[in-house]
Amino acid sequence: MNAPKNAPYERLFTHKHALNESRLERADMAPVAAPGEVILRLDRFALTTNNITYAAFGDAMQYWSFFPTGQDGWGHMPVWGFADVVSSTVEGIDVGERFYGYFPIATHLRMQPERVTPRGFYDGAAHRQALVSAYNQYTRVTQDAAYDATLENYQILYRPLFITSFMLADFLSDNAFFGARRLVFSSASSKTAYGTAFCLQDTPGLTLTALTSAGNRAFVDGLGCYHDSVTYDALGTLATDVPTLYVDFSGDAALRRRVHEHLGNALVYDCFAGSAQNTDFIQSEDLPGPAPQFYFAPVQIRKRNADWGPAVVTEKFNAAQRRFIDHVREPAHGWLTLIEEHGMTAAQARIAALHAGRTHPREGYVIRL
Ligand SMILES: NC(=O)c1ccc[n+]([C@@H]2O[C@H](COP(=O)([O-])OP(=O)(O)OC[C@H]3O[C@@H](n4cnc5c(N)ncnc54)[C@H](OP(=O)(O)O)[C@@H]3O)[C@@H](O)[C@H]2O)c1
Repeated sequence: MNAPKNAPYERLFTHKHALNESRLERADMAPVAAPGEVILRLDRFALTTNNITYAAFGDAMQYWSFFPTGQDGWGHMPVWGFADVVSSTVEGIDVGERFYGYFPIATHLRMQPERVTPRGFYDGAAHRQALVSAYNQYTRVTQDAAYDATLENYQILYRPLFITSFMLADFLSDNAFFGARRLVFSSASSKTAYGTAFCLQDTPGLTLTALTSAGNRAFVDGLGCYHDSVTYDALGTLATDVPTLYVDFSGDAALRRRVHEHLGNALVYDCFAGSAQNTDFIQSEDLPGPAPQFYFAPVQIRKRNADWGPAVVTEKFNAAQRRFIDHVREPAHGWLTLIEEHGMTAAQARIAALHAGRTHPREGYVIRL
């Protein structure tokens, strides 16, 4: 048998202290799995602000640890995508099979599968053992009840965000909204924020207020899942006589302070869910009112797995996600314009634009390799 040909192998490294800067490394490698290994070739992945946040919290939340580069000061930004097996020595994983999961921005990823089932596998590489297991899981598309080959772009764009939206909506309602009758969402134009509003829009007695930038307000108003909207500079016009819960997707510390100071006693809970506009981890500040509480989706997933059982959690999530994707992809709704781009250079430019906030909330970016 002839030795397999070397294949071009590309990896995009992100400067850990200047997230808009990246460096492309090219090499050749023989895509041959060692014993106990598989090699997957990344076919497509999505880019949203959430990926910038993974990098921004790379040290604080160990996101850099999933795909070490071995080079000081350079990290591998994680993305969600679909990849195909190009080499396997693992029983139950065949060449040509397609998986959904968490990848570095690289053409290839070597993994050491464990817990291989029809559903998929976990990467058992030593350096991933201590990391959050939800990110180590790879789902075989043929066994995924939510998979639809015609909806792959929607899945990679929304699934990692909508799991947070869905579980955050569930966490808040599970806690009776901490007594609030109004939720105020910052970075309301972000996909994760409007996904949360989508899940909660029909809750009786609950008002959903969008807090957004002036340039994105028309988009937010057009969504129809928020009851009203306010621009950041008009925050002072928000009524202060309604018990209010702040759902913070912006991570902006100065804005948080203004929200606390303006709402005063009306603020019943501050939920720190994201950091779209800020790359600093939450600071311990001397703020009036309730201390910000960090929200992390895997915690609520664990709770519901215990309450309902994993099969019911998956069933409920799949049904809600399908309703959401069907709503988003209906062109008449005007929620999403899909933009497919090709290659690492396009990814570099898109990451820099997302980092700078130079993107339109209606756009959803998918990179094909
Ligand atoms: N806690 C969790 O488990 C979890 C999970 C998923 C996502 N998230 C977080 O949710 C946030 C939104 O993520 P996404 O992927 O949904 O975002 P997205 O759809 O890409 O939304 C981008 C929005 O964020 C604001 N924004 C982004 N970058 C900015 C910048 N540089 N300057 C000013 N505004 C900027 C803008 O909204 P406005 O104009 O409306 O402010 C913009 O429309 C991220 O921080 C993400 O990490 C958290």
